[in-house]
Amino acid sequence: MLGCPIAIHASTPPLRTRPQGSFPEFARGSAGESPRIHGLVKHWSRSYRSGVEHYSLGSRAAAKDAQVALSLDGGVEVTERRIWVRRLPQAFRGFRIVHLTDIHHGLFLPLRAAIEAVELANQLEPDLVALTGDFVTYSRSYIEPVAAALGGLRARYGVLAVLGNHDYRVGGEQMARALRRERVEVLRNANVPIHRGQSLYVAGIDDYGYGADLPRALRGIPPGAPTVLLAHNPRIIRRAARNGVSLVLSGHTHGGQVNLPFVGTIYGRSPEQMRFKIGWDRLGPTQIYVSRGIGTVVLPLRVRCPAEIPHLELQPHEIARGPYSRLAAES
Ligand SMILES: [Fe+2]
Repeated sequence: MLGCPIAIHASTPPLRTRPQGSFPEFARGSAGESPRIHGLVKHWSRSYRSGVEHYSLGSRAAAKDAQVALSLDGGVEVTERRIWVRRLPQAFRGFRIVHLTDIHHGLFLPLRAAIEAVELANQLEPDLVALTGDFVTYSRSYIEPVAAALGGLRARYGVLAVLGNHDYRVGGEQMARALRRERVEVLRNANVPIHRGQSLYVAGIDDYGYGADLPRALRGIPPGAPTVLLAHNPRIIRRAARNGVSLVLSGHTHGGQVNLPFVGTIYGRSPEQMRFKIGWDRLGPTQIYVSRGIGTVVLPLRVRCPAEIPHLELQPHEIARGPYSRLAAES
């Protein structure tokens, strides 16, 4: 896969229609759509067609323009996706997760954009918000403001988080403390059950290069129980598959961030990164969703790879027949 735009896999089509229940519909022109979200998606469509979120350096006025261009009003995609999970208890049919990752509050991403992401997430009224790290870049001075912004997130079953490599470089302990003060539960090689009559387990792992311990993160989860693993770096997928994790939510790759015609993405060119760089995929029993995230690194721009907020709906599924089972057998 050569990066953006997001590849749509035939076995898990993007949601188009509103199923029985409360999953909101954002298709243009639908009766229940939020004008705010419609506006953002429309705006995104325009920036996507133009290809580049422009960023200019220089005068104060130019810097102000840059901030506007890089705020979420400059382009974000809410990706709706249904995820079929084996052995998912019926009580979790339609359970919705909003996934925010790689905010990278710092020089390139103003606090306003982080706040807009929080507002957008809240409008989706999720059951759970999953945060998969890289909240800040470069300086500790960004930790407290972004944590305060994320403290505004609202979800029926809370907000769970793991840290990313940039958080550890800047100050992992400080980032975790700041999030916990805002009632965000930081899972550091740990898990929590979500009870709804029956249980779904959410585990969180430290970043790949900063103390990731999967056995510890999964300790105490009954064998075969449906488990969602929050892991900043999608490299965990092979170990997660060996341990029977149901679904991994990751970021880190930014979807390649800069996606040039004929060349593909500049970032993440290794074979492993090419496969698990963007969107939905699976390996054996384990599905993974890798979000393009919100912010940027190295360069303050995205090219044909807009910011993304995945909005995932879980549904119970048994692999028994149809294309889904063929895919599982091939993987
Ligand atoms: Fe990142």
